[in-house]
Amino acid sequence: MASLAIRPPRPAPRQYARHGPESAPAPAGSRARPAVGCGTIIRPRAKEARLASPRDPAIPPASDLDPALRARLESLFDEGHEIWSRFDIEVRQKEWHPFVPADYHRVLETLLELRGPGLRFLEWGSATGVITITADLLGYEACGIEIDPALVAIARDLAARHVSNARFAEGSFLPAGYRWRPADRDARLGSIGEGRSGYLELGHPLEDFDLVFGYPWEGEAPVMHDVMNRYGALDARFLRYGPDDSAHIHPVKRPGG
Ligand SMILES: C[S@@+](CC[C@H](N)C(=O)[O-])C[C@H]1O[C@@H](n2cnc3c(N)ncnc32)[C@H](O)[C@@H]1O
Repeated sequence: MASLAIRPPRPAPRQYARHGPESAPAPAGSRARPAVGCGTIIRPRAKEARLASPRDPAIPPASDLDPALRARLESLFDEGHEIWSRFDIEVRQKEWHPFVPADYHRVLETLLELRGPGLRFLEWGSATGVITITADLLGYEACGIEIDPALVAIARDLAARHVSNARFAEGSFLPAGYRWRPADRDARLGSIGEGRSGYLELGHPLEDFDLVFGYPWEGEAPVMHDVMNRYGALDARFLRYGPDDSAHIHPVKRPGG
């Protein structure tokens, strides 16, 4: 059997377009968004990546992960890569779409470091569901919100096939009534889609979650921080994934607080 050690991000197959601040702009005619796009390759982990200290010292590091769980995760990641590959060819190469995946092994490392008993996890823009399902398999109570119904269907199917309790709501991660009103910058939402808020379907408001994951396109991180700071629980954390495979942990800070 191939080694199942948690490994650094594998070089991306050519069709695995990744997004990042320095990458190509979206094709003309795509939704208005900042001048960024897909196409950057996976880079080694950024030196400046900031990770929170493990909450529970008894949790084993990634290399000590239970072999059966490790095998389940590798199988999930492999299928996630296959789905992404098809999605890229069948959807993204025809029309711009905001879904590009984070590096699953990189996110796994961070989820392992942050996990603890009874934590509730939410993925904003859960796409094919791989990260939310990973969180569920690691013991989080895990939910995802995704605005594209086709991706929600894929995520639910993937969760069922990997015997995961992860739950997915179709809708927006923006809370109902939320308005992005920056005093000092462009108020457009970039590629963040607008639609019915997904929290009602989940049965939990944003403040019920301990850890919230987001992978913003350039220019969208301030919106995510604003939502988290206004609506997140005071002891929650926002895990922001960056295009250089960095993982940043942010505490909640109330505006003006
Ligand atoms: C950059 S991808 C990240 C996918 C996944 N979280 C990951 O890291 O692999 C962003 C995802 O957010 C979704 N999305 C965009 N606007 C959204 C919104 N308002 N609410 C929920 N999902 C949204 C897109 O359809 C896309 O699947």
